[in-house]
Amino acid sequence: MKLILLGAPGAGKGTQAEILSRMCKVPTISTGNILRAAMKNKTPVGIRAKEYVDSGKLVPDDVIIGIVRERLAEDDCKNGYILDGMPRTIPQAQALEEVGIDVDWALSLEVPDETIIERLGGRRVCKDCGATYHVVSSPPKTEGVCDTCGGKVCIRKDDAPETISHRLEIYHRETAPLKDFYETRGKLKSVGNMNTVDETTKAIVGALGL
Ligand code: AP5
Repeated sequence: MKLILLGAPGAGKGTQAEILSRMCKVPTISTGNILRAAMKNKTPVGIRAKEYVDSGKLVPDDVIIGIVRERLAEDDCKNGYILDGMPRTIPQAQALEEVGIDVDWALSLEVPDETIIERLGGRRVCKDCGATYHVVSSPPKTEGVCDTCGGKVCIRKDDAPETISHRLEIYHRETAPLKDFYETRGKLKSVGNMNTVDETTKAIVGALGL
């Protein structure tokens, strides 16, 4: 299973990537998580990425391509992987092809902008392990405390309302054209908006024939 998850910020890529990763026993490679960890550890990549990530802009392609090439060369990716959040631009997709990184499918989660704004407005994340919650649809058992590691659950900096609209604008301009890119290669699958995480997983399983 070599899968790309496409979709607007907040479409549920990270949530579904974790579920599919357990189901298919392949790792998830989330460029967002890698960048946030690098920022937390103040590595050179993290320092370079911070101003972009915090303001909802895309990190330059060369940084992302370098991170993903390195990660995909690791042993655990031999039998497949789920790419969450990469590629996000046509040059990133071309760079994957140029170095021979192939995928079975690019699956697009189609969620309307109004729903995205509601989801990201209610999203909470664990500061320590990155587990994702939503104040209405999937709150932690104890408010403010991560079910998984006991860490502090808080609002992601780039989920501020003005940053959400900026991220959506960038998605429509830079990332949505990837649907045509994969469609022309016969690799695009789409799943419409579902009201729950479980229903979305079922729709993906059906679309990919898992
Ligand atoms: P990244 O972390 O990838 O953020 P994103 O794409 O904006 O996606 P999100 O993590 O915000 O949302 P998601 O689709 O994973 O949704 P989630 O599952 O959390 O990237 C962050 C930043 O890093 C970028 O802005 C950029 O600066 C940089 N970056 C990363 N990759 C890059 C690249 N390739 N190139 C350049 N820059 C890059 O779900 C959202 C909420 O909804 C949660 O609360 C969840 O519980 C809830 N939810 C999910 N599904 C459902 C459902 N079906 N029903 C109800 N609630 C649901």
